[in-house]
Amino acid sequence: MPGTADEQSVSVRVMVNDRAHQLDVDAGEVLLGTLRDRLGLTGPKEACGEGECGACTVLVDGGPVASCILAAGSTNGRVVRTVEGLAGTDELTTLQQAFVRHAAVQCGYCTPGVLMVLTALLDDVPEPTETDVRRALAGNICRCTGYQQIVEAALEAAGTVQS
Ligand code: FES
Ligand code: FES
Repeated sequence: MPGTADEQSVSVRVMVNDRAHQLDVDAGEVLLGTLRDRLGLTGPKEACGEGECGACTVLVDGGPVASCILAAGSTNGRVVRTVEGLAGTDELTTLQQAFVRHAAVQCGYCTPGVLMVLTALLDDVPEPTETDVRRALAGNICRCTGYQQIVEAALEAAGTVQS
């Protein structure tokens, strides 16, 4: 159970990218602010700030969430992963490598969120269809790619389509 530090803050113990953190977060603080401003994890981006664009998506207990609208105080005892926590120290994930091969990144602003939703999809559905991929991306706005390269990269990473 979270301990109450005072009326305006909440004490949370949260695992972020395999590191444990004990933090006092403000009552109105959202997870995106905690990650970026306190932990220096600037991969998750803020765009709409209203849960509509997907730029801030991270995984909480393995599922994608819009961190711009999730209360940081609700993450006590939970496991958070950001785009910084996907790759190993010297190797990109299969999905990230496919993004590079397919030029699925242009300006890159949407990319951290897109990678997180697709990582969750591939964890849940090892052989997704194109429809599965497009459905997973429904909450992620990309102004640059037209999505086709992103979809192709996801399908290749899943082994559904061979390059
Ligand atoms: S910034 Fe969070 S969904 Fe747009
Ligand atoms: S690559 Fe620019 S918004 Fe997606």
